[in-house]
Amino acid sequence: MTIKHIEDLNVEEQRVFMRVDFNCPLKEGKVADDTRIRAALPSIQYLLSKGARLILASHLGRPKGQVVKEMSLEPVAVRLSELLNQDIIITDDCIGDGAKKVVTDLRAGQVALLENLRFHKEETDNDENFARKLAALADAYVNDAFGTAHRAHASTAGITKFVQERAAGYLMFKELENLGKVLKDPEKPFVAILGGAKVSDKMGVIENLLDRVDTLLIGGGMAYTFLLAQGLPVGDSLIEKDRLEFAVKILKGAKARNVQLLLPVDHVIAAEVSPDAKAKTVRMEDVPAGMKCLDIGPQTRAAFEAEVAEAKTIFWNGPMGVFEMEPFSAGTLGLAKAVAASDAVSVIGGGDSVAAVNKAGVADKISHISTGGGASMEFMEGKILPGIAALDS
Ligand code: 3PG
Repeated sequence: MTIKHIEDLNVEEQRVFMRVDFNCPLKEGKVADDTRIRAALPSIQYLLSKGARLILASHLGRPKGQVVKEMSLEPVAVRLSELLNQDIIITDDCIGDGAKKVVTDLRAGQVALLENLRFHKEETDNDENFARKLAALADAYVNDAFGTAHRAHASTAGITKFVQERAAGYLMFKELENLGKVLKDPEKPFVAILGGAKVSDKMGVIENLLDRVDTLLIGGGMAYTFLLAQGLPVGDSLIEKDRLEFAVKILKGAKARNVQLLLPVDHVIAAEVSPDAKAKTVRMEDVPAGMKCLDIGPQTRAAFEAEVAEAKTIFWNGPMGVFEMEPFSAGTLGLAKAVAASDAVSVIGGGDSVAAVNKAGVADKISHISTGGGASMEFMEGKILPGIAALDS
């Protein structure tokens, strides 16, 4: 696949349509976490410095083809304007006469933000006519929305058929390089840490990583399906009965490949998932009926941290327990600190693990934190993401 770099485009005085992922959490009408806006700044600033007339486009939430006031990109425009220290013109709609007029009047160095693409159902339908209308707004197309690259939508996939020039931005390349290196050329020992509630969310990733890692550490809710598959007591913990066979297959697959697969050997248990719960630690053979395992115990933590300390490459996705609640947070936060303290190239694949490294105060010590949740997981499954395939030239 050949993908042009944003720097390969001649953008001076050109109208550049850049797909970004500004799907940020909002609170009380304001952006609550601007990580994704900041992550797109290098490409935005580059295009502005080269005299482009910049048109930014994004979705926010899942409005399902309806105009939903609470999902307007207005708060994003406000935050972007603060970060860039310049005015941002937000259109009423992403297509139509209003949008056309705004982009026609746009001067070099100015920025327009199109209103939420998903206010039109045609965006998620990857409708050809809608893609054509978006393309008609600009002279060149850049995709910097890694977080949405797993979606074959009009603004991420369909549009590329109707543009003369297409390229990827700095963020897209940064994500592809960092995640790609973990998959294709990891320095050994390579340790993957997988957690989170469900095995079913991680099946493709586990299968793809099994051929690449030296050690696989499994914690969080998904570990209990693996423990039950070995006949161990799991009390009232989260399990997926329909994934027991898969767990057995993975346990066997790890052995056959000489991959060290570690599961929790002790747990923090409680009767209730509550911040006030009375928690205690038990060995894995001693989980009583009716109790839930809600975090890895100290012995497991020590074993996992020892592996992390030896690693040269670490990939982590999914918490080790219900870390949002203090009684069950030690496993995840301890591991976050251990990953940060290691000499390894550490890559965090979106979602809850990002919240965990932030909560542990160690985000700046991680080599790469992906801005993609679903996108980074599908990438790690080895899938070709449609938003990336569409950039091939
Ligand atoms: C995300 O937050 O993972 C991306 O913005 C994609 O959003 P979606 O899952 O609604 O397509």
